[in-house]
Amino acid sequence: MLFRFIVFARAIILLWLAFAPILFPLRAKADDAASRKDRIVFENDIVPILFAYCWSCHGAEDCKAKLDLRTLPLMLQGGKHGPAIVIGSAEKSLLFQKLKSKQMPPGGELRPTDAHLETIRSWIDSGAEAFYTGGPIDEDGNPPLTDEDRSWWSFRPARRDPAPTVRAADRVRSAIDAFVLARLEEQNLTFNIDADPPRLPRRDRTAPHARGG
Ligand code: HEC
Repeated sequence: MLFRFIVFARAIILLWLAFAPILFPLRAKADDAASRKDRIVFENDIVPILFAYCWSCHGAEDCKAKLDLRTLPLMLQGGKHGPAIVIGSAEKSLLFQKLKSKQMPPGGELRPTDAHLETIRSWIDSGAEAFYTGGPIDEDGNPPLTDEDRSWWSFRPARRDPAPTVRAADRVRSAIDAFVLARLEEQNLTFNIDADPPRLPRRDRTAPHARGG
């Protein structure tokens, strides 16, 4: 029996391997990969540069000129002199101007390369795409909770739903019975008849858990 099951399962897996590429065309995947390569996204391409050259002064620990460069929304919020970037124009973006004029990073700090500058320029010019576009993050780097987050079922206070009304109301001994019976009645079923006292232990013994099944 087990052996037949294994043979059957293997056949299913082999069929899946054979047909999955037809069912889920590889083309879509290839397109995805290509566009992912062309697209410059903040978290993938810009964060490593800012992390290496800027976050020591414009990150969690320190926000020189009140400028935090950890997320796109924070960059748009900007610092002392307003937004650090203008979406769509690197030349108009304070951040890029400071980089190009070599004012940032200041003094003898390690500087980003020309290739890094080009990446930042293309990112801003092409629309400054970012995965995270939510509110400002807290000092631990966590985004704020939205109303949608707060309405997640496990965060809501427990509430007692009224027990459903059922046809065989006389069979209901507790609210839980009412919920179970309501689902049974949807299938035109009802509870089994009550067992009389001598039968009750037998019924219990023949139940699956008592048989060790
Ligand atoms: C060693 C600390 C340090 C590092 C590293 C640093 N900055 Fe700054 N940054 C400052 C200070 C201090 C100021 C405020 C003085 C000024 O404007 O010259 C500032 C100001 C700025 C401003 C102007 C903000 C405003 O609204 O006035 C921008 C934009 C900026 N930095 C971008 C960057 C970028 C991009 C990097 C990384 C490539 C970077 N900085 C790295 C210290 C730093």
